[in-house]
Amino acid sequence: METVHTLELKQVTKRIKGKNIVDNLSFSVQKGEIFGLLGPNGAGKTTTIRMIVGLISMTEGEILVNGLDIRKNYEKAMEQIGAIVENPQMYDYLTGYKNLMQYARIMPGVTKERIDEVVKLVEMEYAIHKKVKAYSLGMRQRLGVAQALLHNPSLLILDEPTNGLDPQGMHDLRNYLRALADQGTSVIVSSHILAEMELMCDRVAVIQHGKLVRIDNVTNVTDQADATVHFKVDGDLLKAKEVLGEQLPDIPVVVEGNELVLQIQQPDAIGDINKRLVMAGLMVYGIQLKKKTLEERFLEMTGKGGDLNEVSVTGH
Ligand SMILES: Nc1ncnc2c1ncn2[C@@H]1O[C@H](COP(=O)(O)OP(=O)(O)O)[C@@H](O)[C@H]1O
Ligand SMILES: [Mg+2]
Repeated sequence: METVHTLELKQVTKRIKGKNIVDNLSFSVQKGEIFGLLGPNGAGKTTTIRMIVGLISMTEGEILVNGLDIRKNYEKAMEQIGAIVENPQMYDYLTGYKNLMQYARIMPGVTKERIDEVVKLVEMEYAIHKKVKAYSLGMRQRLGVAQALLHNPSLLILDEPTNGLDPQGMHDLRNYLRALADQGTSVIVSSHILAEMELMCDRVAVIQHGKLVRIDNVTNVTDQADATVHFKVDGDLLKAKEVLGEQLPDIPVVVEGNELVLQIQQPDAIGDINKRLVMAGLMVYGIQLKKKTLEERFLEMTGKGGDLNEVSVTGH
């Protein structure tokens, strides 16, 4: 049986004035997955999201929500999406709760129980009866997410949700998005900030000039397979390199400063390598396992000097 993805984009293109803003973009998002759209400003993230939520039309291609073509089954498909693309409209002089009540009135089938449920989901019980005008940016966003979740969509889409959030707000956002995903909701977030995506997402689609550069499994980033081990060694490093080269010819070794850097596939080889260095008369006074970061992989996949270098690593 073929699996139905929560969302599937098939060769989607948006052309404006002869220019492909989004260019032949294909990817799919699975149930309960947090999926990132990562790319520098102007890459086409917002345009992609606007097409998914039906705010603008696509020039070519197909978008399916739970198997429903959004052009053929527009309303049914949209019922399954909750999104914050622009700033959601809120009544400042009402409490968060009253805002949700207002919104629920125009949506069929939203019960009081559902309101309480979404308030809990975004961890807002403590502030929901305060007026929105007293809310911080992070609280406003949470209320927006609560609102977007009221009709129990299977896909939540947030465009640049970490913009303007402080570290605590960022941490909270990650927590409740993960809780949502664990309950089976699929989540799409966009960002130009690598480090945040690495912490938040299961998979990331890297986009540049409207094109998909690559889809990366974020969990792979922390895999041991791409790790390097740094041995801080007192003594003749070149001799150490030679010894290891003879004894373990399959493991690449380079000398960096006072360190021997080894590329290893199996972390359990560390003890063995350490022993060999000591037996060769070298003193090891530090061992460090370093995994490749998303940033390093990113530079590898795009090459130096590309526009993707404009992607911010830390958010500044
Ligand atoms: N309506 C439009 N008309 C012309 N150009 C547009 C329009 N909307 C977006 N663009 C251009 O398309 C590119 C992608 O924009 P956008 O999707 O907002 O990127 P991102 O969200 O990744 O920063 C940008 O160069 C932007 O200027
Ligand atoms: Mg944008």
